[in-house]
Amino acid sequence: MSAILLVMTGWDPAEWQARFEALAPRREVRVWPDQVGDPAEIGYACAWKPPPGLLAQFPDLKAIFSLGAGVDHLIGDPLLPAVPVVRVVDRDLTARMTEYVVLHVLLHHRRLRLYRAQQCERVWHEHAQPAANEVAVGILGLGVLGRAAAEVLARIGFRVAGFGRTEQSVAGIETFHGKNGLDAFLARTEILVCLLPHTPATEGILDLALLRKLKRDGALGGAYLINAGRGKLQVDADILAALAEGTLAGASLDVFPTEPLPPESPLWTHPNVIVTPHNAAVSDPRALVKNVLTQIERFERGLPLQHVIDRKAGY
Ligand code: NDP
Ligand code: OXD
Repeated sequence: MSAILLVMTGWDPAEWQARFEALAPRREVRVWPDQVGDPAEIGYACAWKPPPGLLAQFPDLKAIFSLGAGVDHLIGDPLLPAVPVVRVVDRDLTARMTEYVVLHVLLHHRRLRLYRAQQCERVWHEHAQPAANEVAVGILGLGVLGRAAAEVLARIGFRVAGFGRTEQSVAGIETFHGKNGLDAFLARTEILVCLLPHTPATEGILDLALLRKLKRDGALGGAYLINAGRGKLQVDADILAALAEGTLAGASLDVFPTEPLPPESPLWTHPNVIVTPHNAAVSDPRALVKNVLTQIERFERGLPLQHVIDRKAGY
Protein backbone atom coordinates (compact mmCIF):
# COMPACT_ATOMS: atom_id res chain seq x y z
CA MET A 1 0.00 0.00 0.00
CA SER A 2 1.46 3.37 -1.02
CA ALA A 3 2.51 5.63 1.82
CA ILE A 4 1.21 9.15 2.35
CA LEU A 5 3.77 11.90 2.87
CA LEU A 6 2.81 15.04 4.78
CA VAL A 7 4.83 18.01 3.60
CA MET A 8 4.02 21.32 5.21
CA THR A 9 5.81 24.50 6.12
CA GLY A 10 4.39 27.00 8.61
CA TRP A 11 1.92 24.41 9.99
CA ASP A 12 2.45 21.77 12.67
CA PRO A 13 2.08 18.31 11.04
CA ALA A 14 1.51 16.46 14.35
CA GLU A 15 -2.27 16.85 14.45
CA TRP A 16 -2.53 15.92 10.76
CA GLN A 17 -0.43 12.79 11.23
CA ALA A 18 -2.41 11.73 14.29
CA ARG A 19 -5.67 12.22 12.43
CA PHE A 20 -4.48 10.20 9.42
CA GLU A 21 -3.26 7.41 11.67
CA ALA A 22 -6.57 7.35 13.57
CA LEU A 23 -8.71 7.19 10.43
CA ALA A 24 -6.43 4.97 8.31
CA PRO A 25 -4.46 2.77 10.75
CA ARG A 26 -3.25 0.43 7.99
CA ARG A 27 -1.83 3.25 5.85
CA GLU A 28 1.72 4.43 6.46
CA VAL A 29 1.80 8.18 7.04
CA ARG A 30 5.21 9.82 7.01
CA VAL A 31 6.15 13.38 7.77
CA TRP A 32 8.70 15.41 5.84
CA PRO A 33 11.57 16.04 6.53
CA ASP A 34 12.40 13.42 9.20
CA GLN A 35 10.29 10.38 8.24
CA VAL A 36 10.48 10.31 4.43
CA GLY A 37 12.14 6.90 4.22
CA ASP A 38 12.37 5.28 0.78
CA PRO A 39 11.13 7.88 -1.74
CA ALA A 40 9.85 5.09 -4.02
CA GLU A 41 7.25 4.09 -1.39
CA ILE A 42 5.52 7.48 -1.39
CA GLY A 43 2.30 7.33 -3.42
CA TYR A 44 0.52 10.47 -2.23
CA ALA A 45 1.69 13.85 -0.99
CA CYS A 46 -0.47 16.06 1.22
CA ALA A 47 1.11 19.45 0.96
CA TRP A 48 0.99 23.01 2.20
CA LYS A 49 3.73 25.27 0.85
CA PRO A 50 6.24 22.48 0.13
CA PRO A 51 9.79 23.55 -0.74
CA PRO A 52 10.03 23.92 -4.54
CA GLY A 53 11.47 20.82 -6.18
CA LEU A 54 10.76 18.52 -3.24
CA LEU A 55 7.77 16.70 -4.73
CA ALA A 56 9.82 15.81 -7.82
CA GLN A 57 11.85 13.41 -5.66
CA PHE A 58 9.13 10.75 -5.43
CA PRO A 59 9.16 8.54 -8.54
CA ASP A 60 5.87 6.74 -7.80
CA LEU A 61 3.80 9.75 -6.78
CA LYS A 62 0.20 9.28 -7.95
CA ALA A 63 -1.48 12.46 -6.73
CA ILE A 64 -0.79 15.63 -4.79
CA PHE A 65 -3.39 16.92 -2.33
CA SER A 66 -3.26 20.61 -1.54
CA LEU A 67 -4.21 21.00 2.11
CA GLY A 68 -5.80 24.34 1.26
CA ALA A 69 -8.35 25.44 -1.32
CA GLY A 70 -5.71 27.58 -3.02
CA VAL A 71 -3.00 25.88 -5.05
CA ASP A 72 -0.69 28.80 -5.84
CA HIS A 73 1.73 27.35 -3.27
CA LEU A 74 2.14 24.33 -5.58
CA ILE A 75 1.68 25.74 -9.07
CA GLY A 76 4.67 28.04 -8.64
CA ASP A 77 6.99 25.00 -8.46
CA PRO A 78 8.61 24.55 -11.90
CA LEU A 79 9.45 20.93 -11.00
CA LEU A 80 5.95 19.99 -9.85
CA PRO A 81 5.39 16.37 -10.96
CA ALA A 82 2.86 15.83 -13.74
CA VAL A 83 0.35 14.03 -11.52
CA PRO A 84 -3.17 15.22 -10.63
CA VAL A 85 -3.27 18.07 -8.10
CA VAL A 86 -6.40 17.93 -5.96
CA ARG A 87 -7.53 20.94 -3.95
CA VAL A 88 -9.72 21.18 -0.87
CA VAL A 89 -13.42 21.49 -1.44
CA ASP A 90 -15.00 20.74 1.90
CA ARG A 91 -18.08 21.85 3.82
CA ASP A 92 -16.06 22.75 6.90
CA LEU A 93 -13.69 25.08 5.04
CA THR A 94 -16.52 26.58 2.99
CA ALA A 95 -18.58 27.27 6.11
CA ARG A 96 -15.62 29.01 7.74
CA MET A 97 -15.17 31.30 4.75
CA THR A 98 -18.87 32.09 4.67
CA GLU A 99 -18.66 33.08 8.34
CA TYR A 100 -15.74 35.40 7.62
CA VAL A 101 -17.38 37.06 4.64
CA VAL A 102 -20.75 37.54 6.32
CA LEU A 103 -19.08 38.84 9.49
CA HIS A 104 -17.12 41.49 7.59
CA VAL A 105 -19.93 42.52 5.25
CA LEU A 106 -22.17 43.06 8.29
CA LEU A 107 -19.40 44.82 10.18
CA HIS A 108 -19.11 47.46 7.44
CA HIS A 109 -22.85 47.54 6.77
CA ARG A 110 -23.67 48.05 10.47
CA ARG A 111 -20.73 50.49 10.95
CA LEU A 112 -19.17 48.53 13.79
CA ARG A 113 -15.82 50.34 13.62
CA LEU A 114 -17.61 53.67 14.02
CA TYR A 115 -19.67 52.47 17.00
CA ARG A 116 -16.58 50.96 18.59
CA ALA A 117 -14.79 54.33 18.25
CA GLN A 118 -17.82 56.05 19.76
CA GLN A 119 -17.86 53.57 22.63
CA CYS A 120 -14.24 54.43 23.42
CA GLU A 121 -15.35 58.08 23.77
CA ARG A 122 -18.61 57.15 25.62
CA VAL A 123 -20.63 58.71 22.77
CA TRP A 124 -24.28 57.61 22.48
CA HIS A 125 -25.17 58.57 18.91
CA GLU A 126 -27.15 56.73 16.28
CA HIS A 127 -26.34 56.92 12.55
CA ALA A 128 -28.66 56.30 9.61
CA GLN A 129 -28.82 52.58 8.89
CA PRO A 130 -29.66 51.42 5.35
CA ALA A 131 -31.48 48.10 5.05
CA ALA A 132 -29.52 45.18 3.64
CA ASN A 133 -31.69 45.23 0.52
CA GLU A 134 -30.39 48.71 -0.27
CA VAL A 135 -26.73 47.62 -0.18
CA ALA A 136 -24.94 46.11 -3.20
CA VAL A 137 -22.35 43.44 -2.37
CA GLY A 138 -20.17 42.05 -5.18
CA ILE A 139 -18.28 38.77 -4.95
CA LEU A 140 -15.19 38.78 -7.16
CA GLY A 141 -14.49 35.09 -7.73
CA LEU A 142 -17.72 33.17 -7.88
CA GLY A 143 -16.28 29.72 -7.21
CA VAL A 144 -17.03 27.24 -4.44
CA LEU A 145 -16.36 29.75 -1.66
CA GLY A 146 -17.76 32.79 -3.45
CA ARG A 147 -21.04 31.09 -4.30
CA ALA A 148 -21.56 29.81 -0.75
CA ALA A 149 -21.00 33.27 0.75
CA ALA A 150 -23.16 34.90 -1.94
CA GLU A 151 -26.07 32.63 -1.16
CA VAL A 152 -26.03 33.45 2.58
CA LEU A 153 -25.64 37.18 1.93
CA ALA A 154 -28.58 37.06 -0.49
CA ARG A 155 -30.66 35.27 2.15
CA ILE A 156 -29.87 38.05 4.62
CA GLY A 157 -31.26 40.43 2.00
CA PHE A 158 -28.20 42.08 0.42
CA ARG A 159 -28.26 42.85 -3.30
CA VAL A 160 -25.61 40.32 -4.30
CA ALA A 161 -23.79 39.97 -7.60
CA GLY A 162 -20.85 37.82 -8.57
CA PHE A 163 -18.06 37.95 -11.14
CA GLY A 164 -16.27 34.90 -12.55
CA ARG A 165 -13.90 34.22 -15.42
CA THR A 166 -16.53 32.29 -17.33
CA GLU A 167 -20.27 32.78 -17.64
CA GLN A 168 -22.32 31.08 -14.97
CA SER A 169 -25.66 31.38 -13.28
CA VAL A 170 -26.45 31.23 -9.58
CA ALA A 171 -30.06 31.39 -8.44
CA GLY A 172 -30.96 34.77 -6.94
CA ILE A 173 -27.61 36.36 -7.78
CA GLU A 174 -26.78 38.65 -10.68
CA THR A 175 -23.69 37.35 -12.46
CA PHE A 176 -21.05 39.04 -14.62
CA HIS A 177 -18.00 37.90 -16.54
CA GLY A 178 -15.54 39.23 -19.11
CA LYS A 179 -13.87 42.65 -19.42
CA ASN A 180 -17.08 44.66 -19.93
CA GLY A 181 -18.75 42.59 -17.26
CA LEU A 182 -16.07 43.54 -14.74
CA ASP A 183 -16.64 47.28 -15.13
CA ALA A 184 -20.42 46.88 -14.86
CA PHE A 185 -19.97 44.60 -11.83
CA LEU A 186 -17.72 47.11 -10.07
CA ALA A 187 -19.95 50.08 -10.91
CA ARG A 188 -22.88 48.52 -9.01
CA THR A 189 -20.79 47.21 -6.06
CA GLU A 190 -20.42 49.02 -2.72
CA ILE A 191 -18.87 46.17 -0.75
CA LEU A 192 -16.38 44.20 -2.86
CA VAL A 193 -15.54 40.74 -1.54
CA CYS A 194 -12.53 39.19 -3.26
CA LEU A 195 -12.33 35.39 -3.32
CA LEU A 196 -10.19 34.96 -6.41
CA PRO A 197 -7.30 32.51 -6.69
CA HIS A 198 -3.81 33.88 -7.26
CA THR A 199 -2.84 33.24 -10.88
CA PRO A 200 -0.82 35.26 -13.40
CA ALA A 201 -4.16 36.71 -14.59
CA THR A 202 -5.28 37.88 -11.13
CA GLU A 203 -2.00 39.12 -9.64
CA GLY A 204 -2.33 42.77 -8.60
CA ILE A 205 -5.93 42.99 -9.79
CA LEU A 206 -6.97 44.91 -6.65
CA ASP A 207 -5.22 48.14 -7.63
CA LEU A 208 -6.23 51.78 -7.48
CA ALA A 209 -7.70 51.77 -11.00
CA LEU A 210 -10.03 48.90 -10.10
CA LEU A 211 -11.00 50.31 -6.71
CA ARG A 212 -11.90 53.65 -8.31
CA LYS A 213 -14.58 51.86 -10.35
CA LEU A 214 -16.54 50.86 -7.24
CA LYS A 215 -19.83 52.54 -6.35
CA ARG A 216 -19.29 55.25 -3.74
CA ASP A 217 -22.68 56.95 -3.78
CA GLY A 218 -24.77 53.95 -2.77
CA ALA A 219 -26.72 53.36 0.41
CA LEU A 220 -23.54 53.13 2.51
CA GLY A 221 -22.12 56.40 1.17
CA GLY A 222 -18.75 54.79 0.46
CA ALA A 223 -17.06 51.68 -0.93
CA TYR A 224 -15.50 48.83 1.05
CA LEU A 225 -13.04 46.05 0.20
CA ILE A 226 -12.91 42.62 1.81
CA ASN A 227 -10.03 40.46 0.54
CA ALA A 228 -9.85 36.86 1.73
CA GLY A 229 -8.52 35.45 -1.56
CA ARG A 230 -4.78 35.90 -1.76
CA GLY A 231 -2.44 38.72 -0.79
CA LYS A 232 -0.78 38.95 -4.17
CA LEU A 233 -4.11 39.99 -5.67
CA GLN A 234 -3.85 43.30 -3.85
CA VAL A 235 -1.49 46.25 -4.09
CA ASP A 236 -1.14 47.45 -0.50
CA ALA A 237 0.06 50.94 -1.49
CA ASP A 238 -2.97 51.34 -3.76
CA ILE A 239 -5.34 50.29 -0.97
CA LEU A 240 -3.77 52.90 1.29
CA ALA A 241 -4.04 55.50 -1.49
CA ALA A 242 -7.69 54.55 -2.08
CA LEU A 243 -8.41 55.00 1.63
CA ALA A 244 -6.60 58.35 1.69
CA GLU A 245 -8.49 59.78 -1.29
CA GLY A 246 -11.88 58.44 -0.16
CA THR A 247 -12.22 55.84 -2.91
CA LEU A 248 -12.44 53.29 -0.11
CA ALA A 249 -14.23 53.99 3.16
CA GLY A 250 -12.84 50.86 4.77
CA ALA A 251 -11.26 47.47 4.22
CA SER A 252 -11.04 44.04 5.82
CA LEU A 253 -7.87 42.27 4.78
CA ASP A 254 -7.09 38.66 5.66
CA VAL A 255 -4.26 38.18 3.18
CA PHE A 256 -1.24 40.23 2.17
CA PRO A 257 1.48 40.19 -0.51
CA THR A 258 3.99 39.55 2.30
CA GLU A 259 2.87 37.34 5.17
CA PRO A 260 3.11 37.83 8.06
CA LEU A 261 2.21 41.48 7.37
CA PRO A 262 5.45 43.36 8.18
CA PRO A 263 5.29 45.31 11.47
CA GLU A 264 6.07 48.57 9.65
CA SER A 265 3.03 48.30 7.34
CA PRO A 266 0.67 51.29 7.83
CA LEU A 267 -2.23 48.87 7.36
CA TRP A 268 -1.75 47.64 10.94
CA THR A 269 -2.75 50.95 12.47
CA HIS A 270 -5.04 52.40 9.84
CA PRO A 271 -8.33 53.30 11.59
CA ASN A 272 -10.43 52.09 8.66
CA VAL A 273 -8.67 48.77 8.10
CA ILE A 274 -9.25 45.47 9.83
CA VAL A 275 -6.34 43.03 9.63
CA THR A 276 -6.67 39.30 10.26
CA PRO A 277 -3.74 36.84 9.98
CA HIS A 278 -4.77 34.76 6.93
CA ASN A 279 -7.27 32.75 8.94
CA ALA A 280 -10.55 33.48 7.17
CA ALA A 281 -10.95 29.75 6.55
CA VAL A 282 -8.34 27.59 8.20
CA SER A 283 -7.72 23.99 7.13
CA ASP A 284 -8.84 21.84 10.03
CA PRO A 285 -7.38 18.32 10.02
CA ARG A 286 -10.48 17.04 11.83
CA ALA A 287 -12.44 17.71 8.63
CA LEU A 288 -9.89 17.59 5.84
CA VAL A 289 -8.07 14.30 6.56
CA LYS A 290 -11.33 12.42 6.00
CA ASN A 291 -11.76 14.33 2.75
CA VAL A 292 -8.29 13.28 1.50
CA LEU A 293 -8.73 9.64 2.57
CA THR A 294 -12.08 9.44 0.78
CA GLN A 295 -10.39 10.65 -2.39
CA ILE A 296 -7.54 8.14 -2.09
CA GLU A 297 -10.03 5.35 -1.50
CA ARG A 298 -11.99 6.39 -4.62
CA PHE A 299 -8.80 6.60 -6.65
CA GLU A 300 -7.68 3.13 -5.57
CA ARG A 301 -11.09 1.75 -6.54
CA GLY A 302 -10.50 3.13 -10.04
CA LEU A 303 -12.83 6.13 -9.69
CA PRO A 304 -11.72 9.59 -10.85
CA LEU A 305 -10.27 12.02 -8.32
CA GLN A 306 -12.53 15.00 -7.60
CA HIS A 307 -11.57 18.69 -7.60
CA VAL A 308 -8.48 18.20 -9.72
CA ILE A 309 -7.15 21.61 -10.72
CA ASP A 310 -6.68 22.89 -14.24
CA ARG A 311 -2.93 23.48 -14.30
CA LYS A 312 -3.12 25.77 -17.29
CA ALA A 313 -5.67 28.06 -15.64
CA GLY A 314 -3.66 27.83 -12.40
CA TYR A 315 -6.57 27.06 -10.06
P1 NDP B 1 -12.66 28.12 -7.05
O1 NDP B 1 -11.64 27.58 -7.96
O2 NDP B 1 -13.87 27.30 -6.77
O3 NDP B 1 -13.18 29.54 -7.58
C1 NDP B 1 -12.35 30.50 -8.16
C2 NDP B 1 -13.22 31.56 -8.80
O4 NDP B 1 -12.37 32.59 -9.31
C3 NDP B 1 -14.04 31.05 -9.98
O5 NDP B 1 -15.30 31.70 -9.96
C4 NDP B 1 -13.24 31.52 -11.19
O6 NDP B 1 -14.02 31.74 -12.35
C5 NDP B 1 -12.72 32.85 -10.67
N1 NDP B 1 -11.55 33.29 -11.42
C6 NDP B 1 -10.37 32.66 -11.61
N2 NDP B 1 -9.56 33.40 -12.38
C7 NDP B 1 -10.24 34.52 -12.69
C8 NDP B 1 -9.94 35.66 -13.45
N3 NDP B 1 -8.78 35.81 -14.06
N4 NDP B 1 -10.88 36.62 -13.54
C9 NDP B 1 -12.08 36.47 -12.95
N5 NDP B 1 -12.44 35.42 -12.21
C10 NDP B 1 -11.52 34.44 -12.08
O7 NDP B 1 -11.91 28.49 -5.69
P2 NDP B 1 -12.50 28.61 -4.21
O8 NDP B 1 -13.74 29.40 -4.26
O9 NDP B 1 -12.55 27.29 -3.56
O10 NDP B 1 -11.32 29.43 -3.50
C11 NDP B 1 -10.97 30.72 -3.96
C12 NDP B 1 -9.68 31.17 -3.32
O11 NDP B 1 -9.88 31.50 -1.95
C13 NDP B 1 -8.54 30.16 -3.26
O12 NDP B 1 -7.88 30.06 -4.52
C14 NDP B 1 -7.65 30.75 -2.20
O13 NDP B 1 -6.72 31.63 -2.78
C15 NDP B 1 -8.62 31.54 -1.33
N6 NDP B 1 -8.72 30.98 0.03
C16 NDP B 1 -8.35 31.76 1.09
C17 NDP B 1 -8.49 31.29 2.37
C18 NDP B 1 -8.16 32.15 3.54
O14 NDP B 1 -8.16 31.66 4.67
N7 NDP B 1 -7.94 33.43 3.36
C19 NDP B 1 -8.98 29.93 2.63
C20 NDP B 1 -9.37 29.22 1.45
C21 NDP B 1 -9.22 29.73 0.19
P3 NDP B 1 -14.72 30.53 -13.12
O15 NDP B 1 -15.85 30.08 -12.23
O16 NDP B 1 -15.21 31.18 -14.35
O17 NDP B 1 -13.67 29.47 -13.31
C1 OXD C 1 -6.39 28.02 1.55
C2 OXD C 1 -5.91 28.94 2.58
O1 OXD C 1 -6.04 28.18 0.38
O2 OXD C 1 -6.06 28.63 3.78
O3 OXD C 1 -7.15 27.10 1.89
O4 OXD C 1 -5.40 30.00 2.25
